[in-house]
Amino acid sequence: MQISMTVNGDEITRAVEPRVLLVHFIRDELRLTGTHWGCDTSNCGTCVVLMDGVPVKSCTVLAAMADGHAITTVEGLATGATLDPVQQGFMEEHGLQCGFCTPGMMLTARALLDRNPHPDDTEIREAISGQICRCTGYATIVRSVKWAADHPVVAEDAEEEVPA
Ligand code: FES
Ligand code: FES
Repeated sequence: MQISMTVNGDEITRAVEPRVLLVHFIRDELRLTGTHWGCDTSNCGTCVVLMDGVPVKSCTVLAAMADGHAITTVEGLATGATLDPVQQGFMEEHGLQCGFCTPGMMLTARALLDRNPHPDDTEIREAISGQICRCTGYATIVRSVKWAADHPVVAEDAEEEVPA
């Protein structure tokens, strides 16, 4: 079957088998390997991408179900050479160690901040509660998201730098 979607702002059309999962479509067909594949059982959350701005576990979504939708992967977070505040926050507050969970964590954080620009610790922990980090103990991830909430200007600067 043929499917079309927007991925990180680019319109793409591909022929896929109906059984192909979105995570495999993103990684193997589009070669966007920043989306990680972990448990494959909807438990770890490392495969999270945004579908129309909402975090989804891409190992539980068929590529065909993304037909007509807008997908954002971690590769779509930065604007040119300017990091999204969430990416900057993870760097500033050491929100990662091995980095395996990080793409999904950052996308969930971006979706959270888009609907709630100033979440408290509980709201951040609830937002990432479907995702597992084996390294950090979560405290630095929470601090990273709060750093991003406190520095939204990074994103505004990035928009100004985009050529017309
Ligand atoms: S690989 Fe999708 S939730 Fe673990
Ligand atoms: S940084 Fe290693 S799993 Fe989260």
